[in-house]
Amino acid sequence: MNNDLRIYLNKRISVLPEWLADHSYRTAKLAMKLAKYYKEDTQKCELAALSHDIVKHYDNKDLLEIVSKQNIDCLDFEIKNPNVLHGPVASHYIQNYLDDTVIFESVRWHTSGHYTFNNISKIVFLSDKVEPYKVTNRPELNQVKKLVLDDLDQSIIKYFDIQFDYLETRKIQIHPESIKFYESLI
Ligand SMILES: [Fe+2]
Ligand SMILES: [Fe+2]
Repeated sequence: MNNDLRIYLNKRISVLPEWLADHSYRTAKLAMKLAKYYKEDTQKCELAALSHDIVKHYDNKDLLEIVSKQNIDCLDFEIKNPNVLHGPVASHYIQNYLDDTVIFESVRWHTSGHYTFNNISKIVFLSDKVEPYKVTNRPELNQVKKLVLDDLDQSIIKYFDIQFDYLETRKIQIHPESIKFYESLI
């Protein structure tokens, strides 16, 4: 099963814009490092990280069309903010290659996070947020990165403290699942 997913992902990643393929590989590299450190399943972390952004380059109109045609279950917030639909759509595309729900959940909720996340999903979530390029681009994320080897939950709390401020300053609405997730951790 994992091998079929790997073959599928190789195909998908080979047609991604270079910046996005590079981000996916950096996310997977960090996810594997953290998985080893926390003694979690490195393969699941890697595959979820490689899957998470396979349709991030799709435009909002295409994402909305796929969600509607494939009947993908989404929140009202996500339909109104279609840039976050690339998670639900990516998880839909990989679901037939999966033999458990962990990779699916990690990919489905990678933008917002989710209060049901286990360590694998938390590792994938954080790896996406603090892979080296993102930290270079937003140095305040170094505070998150510093905590990542101490405690996954504290690192996620720090990320949301920074991200909620960032979104509020830009008058961008916060994903309701991020709030639920944050409240479950504090
Ligand atoms: Fe994403
Ligand atoms: Fe990403």
